[in-house]
Amino acid sequence: MRRAVFAVALAAIAAGTVIAVAQNADAIKQRREAMRAIARAGAEPFKMTRGEAPFNLVAVQGVLKAIEDNAPKFKAAFPDNSKTGATDATAKVWESRAEFNAIIDKWVSDAKAAAGLIKDEASFKAEYPKLTQTCGTCHGNRGGYAPGLGDSFKKMQEPL
Ligand code: HEC
Repeated sequence: MRRAVFAVALAAIAAGTVIAVAQNADAIKQRREAMRAIARAGAEPFKMTRGEAPFNLVAVQGVLKAIEDNAPKFKAAFPDNSKTGATDATAKVWESRAEFNAIIDKWVSDAKAAAGLIKDEASFKAEYPKLTQTCGTCHGNRGGYAPGLGDSFKKMQEPL
């Protein structure tokens, strides 16, 4: 009898572990997908900032919309059971959550403001760097929330 109870308890623990791991993988996938959507939409505007692509207002509006739509999803995808696994997020995300969330909220409001302000190449050059600077606020090898951008871009080659 005692053995049976023990076996049931073990089975329950095993089932719980499976559920926890499944949630964890889902959240990690969601946030990596959200960040990829922003990074993909940002590729052409990034070239524009370097003079490697002609100014294109539609592409700029695309990345601003990608930030507005995906940054909130990103922010919501860091439950406590997703600290480990196929993730590059550093422990700082959970240690400094209020600061992390504040960066995202400001990023979204900056994107909304920029959508109203960017009308041409001159306003793009004035306003857009404020948004890309925010990438560097999180991505940095010294004390960031994520690795440097070069390393993170390599991650985009992995299937999700
Ligand atoms: C609020 C902080 C924050 C901001 C702002 C931010 N990132 Fe990230 N980014 C992260 C974190 C954390 C991860 C790691 C997610 C994971 O692996 O769980 C990440 C992951 C990535 C990845 C890898 C995605 C993958 O395939 O795993 C890329 C590429 C990336 N970011 C690019 C950018 C670019 C470009 C910007 C600016 C346009 C940006 N990020 C802004 C925090 C941020």
